[in-house]
Amino acid sequence: MQTVTSLDMLRTALAGLRADGARIALVPTMGALHEGHLTLVRRARAEADHVVASIFVNPRQFGPNEDLDAYPRQPAADAAMLEAEGVSLLWTPGPEAMYPAGFATTVSVAGVSEGLCGAARPGHFDGVATVVLKLFNQVAPDMAFFGEKDFQQLAVIRTMARDLDLTRPHVDAIIGVPTVREADGLAMSSRNRYLSPGQRTAAAALPRAMREAIAGIEGGAQVAGVLLQLEAGIIAAGFSSVDYAALADARSLAPLAALGPEPARLLVAARIGDTRLIDNMPVGPARR
Ligand code: PAF
Repeated sequence: MQTVTSLDMLRTALAGLRADGARIALVPTMGALHEGHLTLVRRARAEADHVVASIFVNPRQFGPNEDLDAYPRQPAADAAMLEAEGVSLLWTPGPEAMYPAGFATTVSVAGVSEGLCGAARPGHFDGVATVVLKLFNQVAPDMAFFGEKDFQQLAVIRTMARDLDLTRPHVDAIIGVPTVREADGLAMSSRNRYLSPGQRTAAAALPRAMREAIAGIEGGAQVAGVLLQLEAGIIAAGFSSVDYAALADARSLAPLAALGPEPARLLVAARIGDTRLIDNMPVGPARR
């Protein structure tokens, strides 16, 4: 695995990988890698000739009171894991390589960015869309892999790809990979390491309560009532607050008052201590 830190090095390395028409997959990350990221890499390896992984803790997607400085960083361990998974090229730009002096452009995806996490984290999805479009332009991959754990992020990126006529990777080549979970059901996240042992145990109540809510909704219970019960259950389990618990159309993320024929998703963000956890699951007969 080659590691590159400047755009010039990246371009030279990519030209070498592409020489024989090889197909390239991109796995963008912010590091602090766990099994969820490695699952993305394995999927990417199965579908492309070469995997390019990026590690960049993107300041533009953190709000002023968020955890940018505290965000876990473990570059050597991350590189070793990526190398062991057969990644060909690791792109780790510093902030000045990604946002040189005078950088002035923001990509903003209306609608799908606005509710849910977008409401609680103003500017977050602008930061995500801007850096992901830059990564797509820098690497020009044939396909890119993202976790469904960040379901709204995936919807924002797909909308951007469609709206801006991205051809590499076009919207169908943005591949969402199902969430990887711990044995007790908690969705894997780099932020889980912030949890104390007591909080970590309590956190498993989140996916459990979501599964119960889904059973209720699929069984015909009134959605608003189920969502209120879900919020109460999450608080009773030891969470300090619930940012949102919503049933939404799986593509537009518009709120749904009842299950219809289109794929639906249950999405939750809740705080336990200072840590904000998110999770989402498919709802409905088709379960997609
Ligand atoms: O999901 C993430 O880790 C980040 O939001 C991403 C897609 C790498 C953009 O910074």
